[in-house]
Amino acid sequence: MQQESLSKQLDFSSLLHDVSSSFRATSLVLNQIIDGAYGQSLEEIRPLLIGLQEMNERGLGLVDRRTPCLEPSLATLGQFDMLDFLQKLYFQYKVIAQYHSLNLHYETQVTYKHGTQVRGDSISIDRMLCNIITNAIKYTLRGDIFIRLLNQDDDLIVEIEDTGCGIAAEQLSNIFIPFWRAPQSKLSDKPGRGMGLYIAWMVAYAHGLSMRVDSVAKQGTKFTIIFPYKDDGIYGVDGRMCLK
Ligand SMILES: Nc1ncnc2c1ncn2[C@@H]1O[C@H](COP(=O)(O)OP(=O)(O)OP(=O)(O)O)[C@@H](O)[C@H]1O
Ligand SMILES: [Mg+2]
Repeated sequence: MQQESLSKQLDFSSLLHDVSSSFRATSLVLNQIIDGAYGQSLEEIRPLLIGLQEMNERGLGLVDRRTPCLEPSLATLGQFDMLDFLQKLYFQYKVIAQYHSLNLHYETQVTYKHGTQVRGDSISIDRMLCNIITNAIKYTLRGDIFIRLLNQDDDLIVEIEDTGCGIAAEQLSNIFIPFWRAPQSKLSDKPGRGMGLYIAWMVAYAHGLSMRVDSVAKQGTKFTIIFPYKDDGIYGVDGRMCLK
């Protein structure tokens, strides 16, 4: 009983975390537009406005949801194209990376062995990826951030790699614990509650995805998320789940 109420509290804290992240990102881009950083005419700022609208939809999508749950259910399961999905994220976060003097790149393959269709809860998968990309930007002082979509054998792989401060080997096992932050992050001027990676891990686990983290202190961090290939040609959650 206590366990259940704790998990509900975590679900709500996670939801609040992601809704406020979405508003924070929107505010940052809006301020840049007001400052004229991308031009004055409607034509110049239109791509940014489109990104803003999508970010707003993200916030609304989270609030409108009947459940704060990160697990896919029959009601939330869907199919989408990961190539397009990441392209949208890339456009939204490119502006935020630029604001922090970082270069965000999106690297793809020319062809994919089984296409790029993924089955899952797109809102939760978006939350997983946004939290990892936000961290990559937050914990990188200078350099590049890469989002990659690759094939590895039959599986589809999303990589998010940064050239930031890295995570010490002895701290790696803590990063998915809710509310945990590395001591140097607590001392830094980067605010945070230690929720982002807990959310990312919960989404991966609930979707049956594998997540790997490789990090070298002072050099950078790479998150690898593996979407397993399924018999019906789609990656991610098993199609049989839809029949339950
Ligand atoms: N890309 C990264 N590079 C270096 N350290 C990282 C990276 N991602 C996460 N960390 C470390 O892992 C900790 C946990 O990350 P998490 O996203 O859960 O929390 P946060 O970023 O501190 O706060 P929040 O996500 O709640 O705003 C961070 O405080 C940081 O110390
Ligand atoms: Mg974070």
